[in-house]
Amino acid sequence: MAGFRLAGRSNLIAPSATLAMAAEARRLKSQGIEVFDFSLGEPDFDTPQNVQEAAFKAIRGGQTHYTPPAGLPELRKAIAQHYTDREKLPTVLEQVVVSNGAKHSIHNALMAVCQEGDEVIIPAPYWVSYSDLVKLTGATPVVIQTTEAEGFKLSPEKFRQALTPRSRLLMMNSPSNPTGVVYTREELQALAEAVLESGIGVLSDEIYEQLCYGSARPTCFATLHPDLPERTITISGVSKTYAMTGWRIGWSVAPASISKFMTDLQSQETSNPCSVSQLAALEAITGPQESVEEMIAEFTRRRAYVLERVKTLPGVTCVPPDGAFYAFLNVSSHFGRTLKGVHIANSTDFCLTALSQAHVALVMGAAFGAEGYARMSFATSMSIIEKGFDALERFLSS
Ligand SMILES: Cc1ncc(COP(=O)(O)O)c(C=O)c1O
Repeated sequence: MAGFRLAGRSNLIAPSATLAMAAEARRLKSQGIEVFDFSLGEPDFDTPQNVQEAAFKAIRGGQTHYTPPAGLPELRKAIAQHYTDREKLPTVLEQVVVSNGAKHSIHNALMAVCQEGDEVIIPAPYWVSYSDLVKLTGATPVVIQTTEAEGFKLSPEKFRQALTPRSRLLMMNSPSNPTGVVYTREELQALAEAVLESGIGVLSDEIYEQLCYGSARPTCFATLHPDLPERTITISGVSKTYAMTGWRIGWSVAPASISKFMTDLQSQETSNPCSVSQLAALEAITGPQESVEEMIAEFTRRRAYVLERVKTLPGVTCVPPDGAFYAFLNVSSHFGRTLKGVHIANSTDFCLTALSQAHVALVMGAAFGAEGYARMSFATSMSIIEKGFDALERFLSS
């Protein structure tokens, strides 16, 4: 029997670099090596107790069957209410589609609005999955580099320069993974005007919306102009805010026609997001919010420590992150050096050597479209952060 031939699209995607680094870190740990793991983008806290209880109640109450494909109406309503109350953006249930995680929502949203011949504008540094998910739709990612000097923010001028007659969508992510950058409302307002002039749509990934530090405030892109809700797909979910990465619940808020297609797509591909997780997410959104405040307080403490310690790392700089839980370290001054006997030519060499020689797991900037950098997630305990910095300091001084 002739074997299978892989479809051409198998060449379009690469395995997620963050997951690959985490897997290598796990391999070393399984050999009994103490690894300082800064690779993964997930809160290290337990899912809040009240959310856990809601899930037990759902299971015991027999809510373990299929749900409507777009999610339970009570959850969709609660999400719509969140945008109506918190963002002052009147939102109705029909606009909301609950999915198996924000990543799934992004995939389905791109499937809804992109096709072969389209171009999707992605400011770099960008989250690892964006470009591959765009390629899967047949569209072409058009990556615009932003620099450290620009605070890693896309300017309206750079956006306008990237526009062509084939431009279809701009992908925004504030607070950002990997840089932690949070655009101010004024900066986004200027971009929104350029977007409205251009006539293209926006996918605004706001998964870190509640994780901001100091005076930084998140902005829901669709709120910036009355015409934007018609051309914006907002993405968010419970993974980061409520330490619920494993429950797989995300959502999109989009014009009703797009939401309808995303619902139909989901009905064919996954039927519905997990019923128990949906009820847990409902409790997360509508229940007490103290656990979120506690997590933010802890992230704030760690962020301050990280920024102090970055100053002690030879040849490393970092734009202070205003949101999310990442520090994006500029390690390019070490390129061309030999560290622990290994010649370091780029961010991949840097991260692989830091892991094998210092047992510090970071993710190479190249995976985020930003050679010269390494992403450090501070969603890990203070003691690992302290020991990890000690190890990194010794490694860089070697
Ligand atoms: C910017 C960004 N968007 C989306 C996601 C995916 O979130 P979820 O776990 O809900 O699929 C992540 C997770 O790392 C992320 O960093």
